[in-house]
Amino acid sequence: MRVLIIGSGAREHALAWKISQSLHVKKVYVAPGNAGTSLIEIGRNIPADLRDIDSLIKVALDLKIDLVIVGPEAPLAMGIVDQFQRQGIPIFGPTQNAARIETSKVFAKHLMQKYSIPCARGTAFSNYSDAMKYILDHPLPVVIKADGLAAGKGVTVAFTKEEAIAALTNIMKKKIFGDAGDSVVIEEWLAGREVSFLAFSDGKTVVPMVPACDYKRAFDNDEGPNTGGMGSYSPPGFFDSKLMNQTVETILKPAIEAMDKEGSPYKGVLYAGLMVTADGPKVLEFNARFGDPETQVILPRLKTDLVDILLAVLNAELDRLTIEWSPDACVGVVMASQGYPGNYKTGFPISGLDGVDRNILVFHAGTRFGEDGKIYTAGGRVLTVTATGKTISDARDKVYQNLPRITFEGCYYRKDIALREVN
Ligand code: AMP
Ligand code: GLY
Repeated sequence: MRVLIIGSGAREHALAWKISQSLHVKKVYVAPGNAGTSLIEIGRNIPADLRDIDSLIKVALDLKIDLVIVGPEAPLAMGIVDQFQRQGIPIFGPTQNAARIETSKVFAKHLMQKYSIPCARGTAFSNYSDAMKYILDHPLPVVIKADGLAAGKGVTVAFTKEEAIAALTNIMKKKIFGDAGDSVVIEEWLAGREVSFLAFSDGKTVVPMVPACDYKRAFDNDEGPNTGGMGSYSPPGFFDSKLMNQTVETILKPAIEAMDKEGSPYKGVLYAGLMVTADGPKVLEFNARFGDPETQVILPRLKTDLVDILLAVLNAELDRLTIEWSPDACVGVVMASQGYPGNYKTGFPISGLDGVDRNILVFHAGTRFGEDGKIYTAGGRVLTVTATGKTISDARDKVYQNLPRITFEGCYYRKDIALREVN
């Protein structure tokens, strides 16, 4: 098979790495990919603009692609899956309507309320003064979420009325996220521990992956601004098999059934961002895709051929497949450019990539080859450095021993990824 992966981050490098090991696959194309994906033995990067779905279709037809996998949410929101399906090109991911579970927080909240899926109590507003009244009438902290996609920046947990009002005004009046702020969801603040629990679904059957934890803040001790994710590990010790089963039964299965009943059957990866509260797991958000950086620590634990899983999803045969996971733990740390998630410089040579131990997986994100054949930084998140081990502690030690060998100007990374699991 010839497989095309859409995207350019470390998540897509991890997908390409895993798919290149499939017995079914002879070539993996990544559009547009990064320096890491072009180094895969059977890999090749294809220049692409992800907003131009017509060109992506042309690429897929020209290359006689047998299977497409979509990494990021933006093309899903644009209906890439519907458009490829119309051309008869097999593509893994939810349709535009099904992806609303991520692309509209108002849709997701209404769905969860209608089908009694545990989540924070809250209300959707499309009117600024009604939303303001709700904020003034409700206790703090309060959580304000822009309805649409906002590159992970659309959520404010407000501890004062001033912060809440500023967030609402920025979203609905100043329109800092554009149309994504036409509506908002305002909800209660939930205390607990966060976990990302992803599942494959073929529209009927739901098969969970192993759980992972993500670190969204830029700096140690969860300080600094929110980022796309600075590290991840799997499995989180606190999320035991009882909690996993509870989540499958009360959240994942009901969500897939609900989408079917609403006329938008859900095929692809359903990512539940959960808060494990004293009352059990509750949904903070759904995503319609693999998580980044969760994928970089989940796929190294997957023993089953990923292409078999993706095909079972497309053929609605997930119930016939047994998916196997390694009991090993996995830890991934993101190396970022100084200034990220704000302004940062790129174009610095990366050294030491060849100097890491053999069992270390380095997934590239913002990297590119220079004309001199060297690898340069080309983004805010540059690499996810990943190791597996018998325990989280082993995996963590390996990653942190290897990280200092890789250097580039302005490089920074968190020192506390998975630390709470070993203390
Ligand atoms: P989201 O993009 O909806 O996952 O929100 C981003 C982050 O905001 C989450 O990872 C949580 O840390 C936090 N968050 C979102 N909703 C809530 C909530 N209801 N209670 C507490 N924290 C929340
Ligand atoms: N790790 C968060 C996300 O993929 O949205």
